[in-house]
Parts: sequence; C-alpha cells; structure tokens
Amino acid sequence: MIAKDQDHRIRGSVDALNRAEVLISGGVTSGLRRALEPQALSFESGHGSHLKDVDGNEYIDYVLGWGPAILGHTHPAVTEAVEIQVRKGQVFGAIHPGERLAAERLLACVPQFSRVLFSNTGTEAVQVALRLARAATGRNLIVKCAGAYHGWHDTMLLSYHQHTGGHRAVSNTLGQNPRALDDVLVIDFNDVESVQSVFRQYGQDIAAVIIDPVLSNGGLIEPDPAFLTLLREQCDRTGALLIYDEVITGFRIALGGAVELYGVVPDLAIYAKAMANGFPISAVAGQPEVIDLVTQGVVHAGTYNGNAIATAATAVTLEFLALPGTYELLWAHAQALAKGLQNVFDVHGVDAQAHHLGPIVQILFGKTHPISPRDFDETDWTLWNQWSRSLSPEGLFLLPHGRMFLSTAHTAEDIQRTIKAFEGVIQHEKDRF
Ligand SMILES: Cc1ncc(COP(=O)(O)O)c(C=O)c1O
Repeated sequence: MIAKDQDHRIRGSVDALNRAEVLISGGVTSGLRRALEPQALSFESGHGSHLKDVDGNEYIDYVLGWGPAILGHTHPAVTEAVEIQVRKGQVFGAIHPGERLAAERLLACVPQFSRVLFSNTGTEAVQVALRLARAATGRNLIVKCAGAYHGWHDTMLLSYHQHTGGHRAVSNTLGQNPRALDDVLVIDFNDVESVQSVFRQYGQDIAAVIIDPVLSNGGLIEPDPAFLTLLREQCDRTGALLIYDEVITGFRIALGGAVELYGVVPDLAIYAKAMANGFPISAVAGQPEVIDLVTQGVVHAGTYNGNAIATAATAVTLEFLALPGTYELLWAHAQALAKGLQNVFDVHGVDAQAHHLGPIVQILFGKTHPISPRDFDETDWTLWNQWSRSLSPEGLFLLPHGRMFLSTAHTAEDIQRTIKAFEGVIQHEKDRF
C-alpha cells in the first residue's frame, strides 16, 4: 500500500498516483518501485542528470531509471539515432543491419567474447544463459550467491534476501514453483569454503555458477580475487560454466565491466541496463561453442529481440561510452560524491560510510565496508528513507538502500549541490531530535 505524501509541492504527483491506482495495481508497473521515497513522485521529463516531475519540480537524478541512463536522460546522440530509426522502421521480425552494428560494438567492448544473443531484459538474458549452460553440460543444478538478484523469474528469485547458511535455496516470492528450489544451490559471496563445499558435494551435477561479480544489489561488495579464481578453477575442473550477470556492472564500472576490471573471464556474461541508455535490450556474450547451441536445439526467441530501436540505441550508447575519458570522469565524480558525503557524515557524527565503485555510490549505516551480504540485508534503512523524503524537496531523487547511480551528465556542480543538500538535511534532522 502506497502512503500518500500530502506535501502540496507534489500535489500533481499524488493526484496522478490516486488515478493510476484504480487502473494499475499499487499504481506502479514494477513492484520494487514501491520502495522509492517519496512514493508518489510522477515524472514528466528528463534531460541530462535532471528530472522534472508533473508539478514542475526539478531533481538531480541518482536513480537513472534504476541504472540504465548512464549517458544521462535524452542524450542528444541517442535520441537522434532512435528518431532516425523510428522513421525507417522499428520491428522487422527479421534480420536488419542495426543488429550487426550493435553486436560489433558490444563485442568490441568485451573482446574476450566472440558471439552475442540479444533479448529485452536482464531477466530474459539470465534465462537463456542458464538454458545454454544446461544444454552445454547436460546437467541441471545452478549455483548462485545468497543476496544476489538475477531477475524476477521463478528460476532465480531465490535466496535474494533470506540466508540459510547452507546450500539450500529459499523462495523470495509467493506463487513460485516449489520445484524451482530443487534446481538451485546457494553459496556465500567471497566465501571460498562455501565454493569448495558446494563443488565437493555436487560438483558432477552443476551446470553453472552464476554470480553478480560485484554484489551490486547487496552492499556493492567487490569480489576477492581468490573467490573468482577458485570459481573459475572449480568450473574448469568439473565442466560447469561460469556466468557473470553484469546487468549492473556491465559498461558501468568499466567499458568491459567486471571482465575487464577483475581479469577472470567467465564462459558467459549477461548485459542489460547501461548498454542502451534506457532502451530495453539485453545480451548474453560468450564463445560460439556455447552460444551457437541456439542453432542446435536450444530455443531462444522473442518478438522484440534485437528490435531496430533498441539496437540503434545500443550502438550509439556504446560508441559514446567508448570515447576516451568516459570512465575516468565517471569514477572521479563518484569519488568526489562519496568523499564529500563521508566528510558530512564524519563532521556531523553520523555512523555511516560512503564508498563507490565506478559511478555507483553506496551508503552503509553502522557497518564497516566491505559489509557482509547478511549484514546488508539486516540493515535498518529507516534513516535513509527519512533522508530521501527530506532531500526530495531539496531537489534530489534517490534510490532505496543507500545506492546512487551517476551518469556522464552529472556535473561537479550537481555533486556539490548534493553534498550541501545532505548536509542541510542531516543538520536539520539533528536539530529536530
Ligand atoms: C544484477 C541484476 N541481474 C538481473 C536483473 C534483472 O534485469 P531486468 O530488470 O532488466 O529484468 C537486475 C535488475 O535490476 C539486476 O540488478
């Protein structure tokens, strides 16, 4: 149930939510959006790092559509490429040159791979990657990390929140096929014991290990080199595939994502969000031996797969991301934001930590970084939610759980304004209590 924000500043948003709720369950079209604070905000437009709501209020956007808009909203070159393509045709349901160009640009970013498949969402790409792994190995079991999110399908919406400490998976949704739990084993991120134990017990039956190489939805935890190396070794030894879900990390923490940054190459890597600056497309990259199984009995289908709009957006987004200096800028701005916020927390005695990896900033409360996935899950986010509500009238739009995404459109001025806004709100909240 969405609480109505009575703030007169966002009266139009509240009204829009009231009208949406009688047509769309809960008023939102992805359940996770209910966690945004304030919950009612309804947006009219976005340009660069800024959004405008239906009441005309402006915000510096740290949500970026939950990640995709890495070049900023309505980036002129992306908009132009899409406009040109819209006039030429949108969905051919057959081969077109835009697919090839998008594939070339993507594989140039991750030269470790030579084949790619396109789908529409991260969830779909995870689905086809797992199917390929099962077909390639003739095995069924999939290993995932506790605290990692890999999409909302029955196959993978397991042990995202609850942690058992063992290898048994836990359901994270009502209505899930209970048999999905039998196909998945759980390990702890960065825990080499856990990796050794799962391979010792089930090694010959494991089709794939899928990891978010940075636990990006669970505290922005970087992988220990020993964890990645051991996973690679154990997969090679037993014949299982190693899959990176780079839906968050891909084209964001580096042009070549975690594959480039950490150097351990998986068999398959999954991309989505940042690859098309907000247009729906995802990809699985790998080598022909595995990917080409789609020509040998593995079904990969989808009406909108590789549609001309999404591939046009992909080609131009990746072209811009590949320009010299892009990642230096993204890292520098995120570092300035994390440092500035940390300084505010320290000066005002707030028990919080700000760290960043590339253009993702993560705030943690009362815990040292790196946090364990379990501690992240058990974190009380009340203060963050309160800040998000108070920072909204100051012109900031924030994600839940202390995470902030930056784009190439965020400026040094945006960052200084953001730090000042945090300081003002923290000072004010301190005076109130
Ligand atoms: C790491 C990761 N994998 C997969 C997904 C699912 O992607 P989508 O929402 O496009 O289905 C997400 C979504 O946030 C994600 O963060």
